[in-house]
Order: sequence, then structure tokens, then C-alpha cells
Amino acid sequence: MKNSNPFIVFTPGLASITGCLLCLGISIAPNLGLVSTPNGQGAASGAKRPWMNPSLSAEKRADLLLRAMNLDDKIAMLHGGPSKGPAGAVPANPRLGIPALCLADGRAGVGNGARDVTLLPAPLAAAASWNPALLFAYGKVLGNEEWKKGVNVFLGPTIDVVRVPEWGRAFETYGEDPYFNSQMAAAEINGVQSEGPIANANMYLTMNQETDRGKVNCVVGERTLQEIYLPPFRAAIQAGNVGTVMGAYVKTDGSYSCQNRHLLHDFLRTELGFKGWVLSDWGAVHSTLDCLNAGLDQEMPGGRYYGKPLALAVQAGEVSTPTLNRHVRRILVTMFRHGLFDRPPTGTWHSNARSAADDLFARKAAEEGTVLLKNEGHILPLANPPSIAVIGADGGTKAMAEGGGSSGVVAPYVVSPLEGIRQRAPGIRVSYADGSDVSQAAKNAQAAGVAIVFVSAFESEGADRPNLELPGNQDQLVSAVAAANSNTVVVLNTGGAVLMPWLGHVRAVIEAWYPGQEDGHAIAAVLFGDVNPSGRLALTFPRTNDEVPTASPRRWPGISRGKPASRTSEYTEALNVGYRWYAATRTRPLFPFGYGLSYTTFKLAGPLVLTRDRLESSPGKASVAVTVNVTNSGRRAGSEVVQAYIGHPAANGEPPLQLCGFAKVLLHPGQTEPVRIVLNPWAFSIFDTAANRWTSPPGAYDILIGA
Ligand code: BGC
Repeated sequence: MKNSNPFIVFTPGLASITGCLLCLGISIAPNLGLVSTPNGQGAASGAKRPWMNPSLSAEKRADLLLRAMNLDDKIAMLHGGPSKGPAGAVPANPRLGIPALCLADGRAGVGNGARDVTLLPAPLAAAASWNPALLFAYGKVLGNEEWKKGVNVFLGPTIDVVRVPEWGRAFETYGEDPYFNSQMAAAEINGVQSEGPIANANMYLTMNQETDRGKVNCVVGERTLQEIYLPPFRAAIQAGNVGTVMGAYVKTDGSYSCQNRHLLHDFLRTELGFKGWVLSDWGAVHSTLDCLNAGLDQEMPGGRYYGKPLALAVQAGEVSTPTLNRHVRRILVTMFRHGLFDRPPTGTWHSNARSAADDLFARKAAEEGTVLLKNEGHILPLANPPSIAVIGADGGTKAMAEGGGSSGVVAPYVVSPLEGIRQRAPGIRVSYADGSDVSQAAKNAQAAGVAIVFVSAFESEGADRPNLELPGNQDQLVSAVAAANSNTVVVLNTGGAVLMPWLGHVRAVIEAWYPGQEDGHAIAAVLFGDVNPSGRLALTFPRTNDEVPTASPRRWPGISRGKPASRTSEYTEALNVGYRWYAATRTRPLFPFGYGLSYTTFKLAGPLVLTRDRLESSPGKASVAVTVNVTNSGRRAGSEVVQAYIGHPAANGEPPLQLCGFAKVLLHPGQTEPVRIVLNPWAFSIFDTAANRWTSPPGAYDILIGA
């Protein structure tokens, strides 16, 4: 059963269903290209302060204000100042009526030690819902709570593609696919910004490891940058209209992110049309003039380079007034555009931001992101066993509900799995062992109808995981419990992939990620079938440490050369990131990207209908939709995630298959619905390094549809 999602092959014209993926052919005629469209509008009155007139355009207001600003006013906008609580601040300018900027972390909730906030499941958990509407709602809860805390710049989301499975910040992201991350990024950013704060797309760019993050040089190459690492930022800017971007700690192709003109000027401004401002990650600035000339607008959290040194550089004529104004103007325009001058946040750092609706959402999001990986003999949902042994520290008061680092949230409460299970099933005898004594845990398991082992792997900013194994004695714990009770269910609380040497000996496995404050309620709802799991993996789970795309030290964590030693990470896997690598090397992972089971069954069937099978329209308009019939063939209502992958003509030099569309559909038992997936025009294009542009080479493309 495991790993055997039913795929179907469809041969155009024959409608035969033979085994693996539903497949359609499509051909592209020459002259198809793609264009990107920057966007963003907004507007927001007075006589002494004409820039306060909200009926003027954001640009006009910024220009009026700029004219009233002296050098000190301008320099003050370009770097952080003292902050009492949040991660960063730029003081208000009362003379000119410029509101303060208050910047706070927020990946799974308001961070930086804020109280009375909601701890949502980790972003990777929310993303595992494969439901952009859920990410929009996730963004709304975060944005709303930040706004109630007085925060007008929300530091998140983290939209980088996960390259290294051990990356300490994988849990903060959406996973390993550029298209998927793009959809999720745009959805969450739109949600955040609809509530008031300006969002911040981070971390730009190639922030893919924690090891030596302050000095590692990521040797990537243009095509890989364009095709793998840039797309989520394109989506954040063009579909999410994000107001700010955060420059990362690392170097990309030889230059620190915050002084990398290619990244900041050529990509962000020229190619993507970004109109907002770029702020640095905390302490990621290494120069004054290099950063300014490359395009960095604001230093955070202090003014080591953009404070006095910048003022002196302006006075010495090293920085011209137009240059200085350009950076200040970007900040002002964005602030006007997002209404920051017209509508202050509703509370302050010490206000209560929580609500019953947010608690409810935290639970719903955790439930929808939970992924059922194995369910042998349909042991789940639990059919009222006489007794349950809950085992593992994560099952009790030490439940791992969140990851660490700047995304850390002070949870108002965490419902432990033990509490959740006891509340859900008051009639069932439930024992508990924390697993520190393996033989006691095995005894409990043996005495119970079902054993549920909770295991975890902690992830945090600042360090990568040493490998993909469950830390400590957890593998032994699972094996001992499985040996003592043939009805063993494993629940994983991890921020990414882990190895499962005991997989063949347990009946069921659930990936619950870092589930947030509603941990116990959500997992109990899934275990007992109140919720039919519908999450799918957003990153690959390998069988071993050695088969991952970045298994060689040159790739990760990179090797040190020269004096002083500086580490270089070579991105020689190039486009073969995540599942692309497994497909290209024909390596069978433990659980593939996109994988997840349900308590019901689904059938995908042709005829597959393409809206057109030739693409020769004008650039950027080449959208194509594919329709497939999905049936709930089981006995419970459930949601299927239909996924579309593209296979390029061999001459394009692309990975064998790449996600280019997906749709989630809820079906009642016996219900059949046509599911329509609009294919992303970018899917039919590659970056031509020699010509330095995107192109869609003529040829035959395969569209593969499956679950
Ligand atoms: C992180 C950022 C974060 C900042 C402020 C840095 O260490 O990389 O993501 O926003 O701290 O807390």
C-alpha cells in the first residue's frame, strides 16, 4: 500500500487507463514567450502637510513629503532604531507626521516574545494542506494579530525553496517546489496585507542553510536562480503585491545578498518590477556604499552602515541627493500605498491579539495540514479500542508544537495529544509513558489495544539538523513499542523530512508537523476520524541520508577554502532540487512530494480535456487548462489533491517532471466532479542563459495528472 498512489496513464485519443499518471501531449509552436507584469496601486490630505491628503497618489504624497525632509529625516528612515519588544523599529517623525515603523517576526504567530497571541501550525504544516485559500486565511490571522499588536511591518513569510532537507528553517517555509511556494506565498501575503501590515518576503536569496549562513557563498548560476530560487519572489511581488523584501545573510554567486546588484537591481527592480523597499536581515549589511549602490534601501536593526556613515557619505558627495532620495522614496511610497499614514494599527505591543476565532482557525489549519503516510489494514480511524497507550514526550506536556529561532511564538497554551485524546474519547482507558524508559513504554504498549508513539525532531534557525534521523533514542522507542503491540501508530512532529527505519513494523504513520497550540485537538480529530486527512507532503521524504540531492559536502554544508576560511556551497544539483532530483536519478524516496492518504479512496479518470493542444499565442497569454474527472470511490467524504506536472522536450534540459498546477476538491461518497487545472504559462518556458531571457522552445510537452 505504501507509496502506491494510484496514477493513470492516458494516451491521447485512446483514453486508456494503464497504471501510473494521466498523461496528455501538448505542443508548442515557436515564438511563445512570457512577460511579467509588475503591479501595485494605492492612494491616501492637509495644507501645512499636503502629503497627508489621501486623495493624492502614493507617489505624489511621497514627493511632497520628500521635499519637506532634511538630511537627518531621510537618514533616519533608512535604518532601524531602538525597539522595545518587536524585532525592529524606525522612530516616528512627529514634525512631519511620519508614523513609526514597527517590525515584528511572524511565521506561525506574532514573535519576539509577544504575549496573548495565537500559535498557529508551522507554515510547512499549513502548506501541506495544498490549499491556497487556507494560506490566505492563515495570513489574515497573522496580519490581524500583528496589527492588533501595533505592528505595521510583518516579518514573513519565509518563501525560500527548501534545497537542503536538513535546513534548520525548513519548517518556516512552504517546501521544495518553486511553483508550489509561489502559490502559497502570494496567498499568505495577500492575507497578511489585507489586514493592515506590510508583509516581507524573506529571505532573498538562496537562503538555504544555517551552517555558516553569515558568510557562506552559494555558487548557483543564472538558470538555476531564475528557475528554482527566484519564482516565489516573483509571485510575492507580482501576485502578492508584497511591500518589502528582506535581503539574506548569505552570498549568492560571490556577493552578499544586501550588496548584490544583480539580485537587487537586475532581478528585483528591472525584471520583477518591484516597487517596494528592501530591508536587510538583522546584521546582514557589510558596507555602506556597496549596499546602497546595489539597491539595499534599509539597514536593520541598527544604523552601523546606514546611520552616521551614510550621512557622512552624503555630505562628502559620495552619495548624491537623487540616490539618497530614491531609497527614501521607495519606503515612503510603500507606506502611503499601504495606508500607513492614514490608518494606524489598532493596538500596541501589550494589547491582546487573540480571539476565539483564531483558536478555531489554529485547529482547522493543523487538521488540514496533517498528512497520513501509512494506514495498513485501515487501522485508522480508530474504531473505539478498549485502551490506548500514548507514548513519547511529544504526546505529553513536552509536545513539540513549534520550531525555534526568530519565528518562535509564546504559545498561550498547547493542548497535548494526551489531553486531546482523553477529551475526545472519555470512555477509553488511556495510559501514558514519556518514553524515557523504553521498557516501561513497551509494557504500556503491550497492555493496550493500540499504541500511539509521538516522536519529534526539533528545528531552529541558527543550526541545520546534523542528519535526517530522529534524534536520541526515538527510533529504538518506536521499534520496541511496535514489537510489543502490533497495532502501533506513529505520529511525527517534525519540521521536515525524517528517516523511518521502523516503517515496515508499524501499522500507521501520521506527519503532524509542528501543529501549534491546538496540537492535541487536531491530532485526536484525525486519529478518531472526525477529520479525514487531506494533507499532502510539500517535500520529499528520502529513505536514507545519502540519497538526498545535497548529500555531498561540496553541496551541503559546503567546503571551506582559503584564509580566513570561507565556505562555498556548490549548487551542482542545479535544477534537480527536491523531487526533481529523485525523478532525474530514478531514486525511489520513502514518500514522494505530493504524497498523502485519505480515509476514503479516489479515482481519477479520463477523458482528459485540454482547452487547446497547441500554444502559439502571444507571450504571457499561453494559458491552458486541463480537466479530469475525480470520483470519491470510498465511504467517507474527503478531499483529493489533483496535481499536474509537466515534462519538457528532452532538448530543453529540464528535470523529468515539474509541478505546474494543482487543485483540491472535496467530494462526498460516490460523487464525481470534473476538476479543472489552469496550467501556469511559466511551466512551458526555460531560462536561456546565453540569450539572457525566458523562452518557450518549440516541441512536444507532456502534461501528467495524478494524485
Ligand atoms: C532572521 C529573520 C528575522 C530577523 C529578526 C533574523 O535572524 O533571519 O528572519 O526576521 O532575525 O528577528
